[in-house]
Amino acid sequence: MARLVIVSNRVPASAKREQQAGGLAVVLEEALKGEVLWFGWSGKRTHATSAKPTFATRGTTTFATIDLSEEDYQAYYAGFSNRSLWPLFHYRTGLVAYSREDYKGYRSTNQKFAQALVPLLRPGDLLWIHDYHLMPLGRALREQGVDLKMGFFLHIPFPPLSVFDILPPAGELAADLAAYDLAGFQTAEDRDNFVGCARKILPEAQRAPAIASAVALPVGIDGKAFARMAKTSRMNAESRRLKDSLVGRKLIIGADRLDYSKGLPQRFEAYSELLETHAEYREKVSYLQVAPRSREEVSEYRELKRTLDRLTGRINGKYAEFDWVPLRYMTHGLSRRLLAGFFRMAAIGLVTPLRDGMNLVAMEYVAAQDEEDPGVLILSRFAGAAASLDAALIVNPYDPGGIAEALHEGLTMSRQERQERWRSLMHRIDEDSAAAWCRRFLARLTAPPKTLRAAS
Ligand code: G6P
Repeated sequence: MARLVIVSNRVPASAKREQQAGGLAVVLEEALKGEVLWFGWSGKRTHATSAKPTFATRGTTTFATIDLSEEDYQAYYAGFSNRSLWPLFHYRTGLVAYSREDYKGYRSTNQKFAQALVPLLRPGDLLWIHDYHLMPLGRALREQGVDLKMGFFLHIPFPPLSVFDILPPAGELAADLAAYDLAGFQTAEDRDNFVGCARKILPEAQRAPAIASAVALPVGIDGKAFARMAKTSRMNAESRRLKDSLVGRKLIIGADRLDYSKGLPQRFEAYSELLETHAEYREKVSYLQVAPRSREEVSEYRELKRTLDRLTGRINGKYAEFDWVPLRYMTHGLSRRLLAGFFRMAAIGLVTPLRDGMNLVAMEYVAAQDEEDPGVLILSRFAGAAASLDAALIVNPYDPGGIAEALHEGLTMSRQERQERWRSLMHRIDEDSAAAWCRRFLARLTAPPKTLRAAS
């Protein structure tokens, strides 16, 4: 079997799996079997970007990581990736900031990734490159003489042409993606957007396999493993403490990075509206929002934190009683294991991003439930996960009133309806598991070109 070489910006080299908060690293680790080389950034910032990686091994996976210089980190990660690509690909054109310097740093850091990776590659390796930080990496590797099969998967949404085209180097980035043997996206909408952009911007490259055979393959989780973790974690001392603190009140839970794509202010407003319009819930529910701080070098993230701090103060000031805090808001993370137990306890999982590639928290919330007495998932129609989790209560995340109505519906839903919805959701989660996603992507990548064309 060919060795698989994974490349991603973040690499889970040091953290234990259950301590990680989630995301790409967890999905891949759960799904991978066989010999793997996993290459990426160490998470460390030093005086110079390392030319040679540091190695660590866990099971059959070897991790190879490089440090980034402060300058590269600022231009490649904080700059072009998170000030230009992230807002643009989440349809937030008003938040896009573009600087030629940052873009130059983004491309040159991708070159440095390529230079450090090339000496580690062996004939027959299969390369799988992940996410928006590394779009130019495939072409950079090709320019350095690598002729291995290379696939790319985008974990965030891909916007339509009118949005993508705002980016000054849109053409160059489309050509980067077109250079892969296979390009994968979370949903059919994302794939179609990419194909539409590429057809318009790169008319000469229409037959490129990445464009002609672009695939929509939704990322998933290992639902059974998460369910097991939730069951055992529910017995932990921390879960008991949370349970005791609720004194019989129903728990509403949200867990998201503190990111403007997650729709947190609208969600807080929705909860406030529920308490305003349905006074019967006052002192009867508690909303816990876990929102670990993220990308704080980008000003929009600091601004969002100020907004949420203010909203929390307003809501708690208005509705709290001396023995009841309506909104529990924390800006540090909890381990995945702990969250799993907390999800199991919650009557409502509130997942309302304004735009999201997939959103695995939605799946984790469902997987964590007790099938005899499951909670209700409230899910944004603009999360990639909504395409398959249509048995959730689907809401428009821009509409706090609509979310408040869904909260009321979820809190009063019969056990029978909760069970029916849960079974249907769980079925989809098991079908589109992390392992299936990996298998399907690699099968496409290794399929002969003819089959690829026929399947597209
Ligand atoms: C999203 C991206 C991932 C990224 C994660 C955390 O899920 O698709 O590539 O790793 O956010 O963001 P961070 O900037 O901390 O890596």
